[in-house]
Amino acid sequence: VCSSDLGLGRMGVPMALNLVNAGHQVTVYNRSADKTVALTEAGASAVTRPADLGAGAEVVFTMISNDAALEDVTSGPDGVLATMAAGSILVDMSTVTPACSARVAEAATKCSVAYIRAPVSGSVVFAVAKTLTILASGPTQAYETCKPLFELMGGKIFHVGQDEQARYLKLTLNMMVGITAGMAAEALAFSERGGVEWDVLLEVVANSAVASPLIGYKRAPMAARDWTPAFPANQMAKDFDMALDTARDLCTPLPITALVRQYWSTMMATGRGNNDFFGCLELLEEQAGIKPKSS
Ligand SMILES: NC(=O)c1ccc[n+]([C@@H]2O[C@H](COP(=O)([O-])OP(=O)(O)OC[C@H]3O[C@@H](n4cnc5c(N)ncnc54)[C@H](OP(=O)(O)O)[C@@H]3O)[C@@H](O)[C@H]2O)c1
Repeated sequence: VCSSDLGLGRMGVPMALNLVNAGHQVTVYNRSADKTVALTEAGASAVTRPADLGAGAEVVFTMISNDAALEDVTSGPDGVLATMAAGSILVDMSTVTPACSARVAEAATKCSVAYIRAPVSGSVVFAVAKTLTILASGPTQAYETCKPLFELMGGKIFHVGQDEQARYLKLTLNMMVGITAGMAAEALAFSERGGVEWDVLLEVVANSAVASPLIGYKRAPMAARDWTPAFPANQMAKDFDMALDTARDLCTPLPITALVRQYWSTMMATGRGNNDFFGCLELLEEQAGIKPKSS
């Protein structure tokens, strides 16, 4: 398959490399040109405008920061849709709002381009290991065409509907993951305050009914007090804001999400915005009067 990849950030680079290394003919674009080097060294070609990616590509993947960036690179004046052939496929794997995604869908339809929303769950480590969870929605035939490419990037792949369903599911997973951190921080600080040893606490929780894959991944960093970001608090804030904005439009209450959103603000205001979101534990410990542990 002849594909194009647009957006070579922390996630985009390993995801595009997995396509190149599997032998696909890949053309890449990134706003900051220096980030294309790892890809061109691996055999991809690079272009200097999003619009230069469209012609000749069977599938165009985008993996960029946010709503504004996605609209810019797809349907902006120099966007890729302008040059994509009728019948080709646009796949956006970024985390964006359902509202923005629906506008991109409309622009794609006008160009007779099939549009697959395929946001991912998992961090950079998962992208490198090709074990991302990919939540896809959009027309079935285009999804089936893309599935072998998704299999080069992800371990679990779901086709969850024809429209914006994947966008909602992605935000749902991040809400649950973020709320888990807030919930764990509060409950763990409570037991610490009561005198339970930190290692004992983590051991018991990891072997309890509330243990989950997420709590399992976070056990070692929590034990080491290592807040190197698998996912930084400031990005979690962005995803919570997308969920809250979308829910407001749907008149759907998200009381716990709104509350836990305050933790991300507090982390950012106290110089912890680039720490992993599980670092919110420190906030609850401070409020409980627990002396800082060394990291
Ligand atoms: N990191 C994770 O663990 C993770 C996990 C799941 C999902 N996600 C989602 O995946 C997406 C990408 O994340 P990331 O961690 O790879 O982000 P990142 O490292 O910050 O990369 C963002 C990319 O978007 C490009 N970009 C931003 N604004 C642009 C614009 N106006 N025009 C053109 N390009 C623009 C950047 O170009 P420059 O290089 O020029 O800045 C860069 O290539 C985000 O939606 C994020 O929420 C991330």
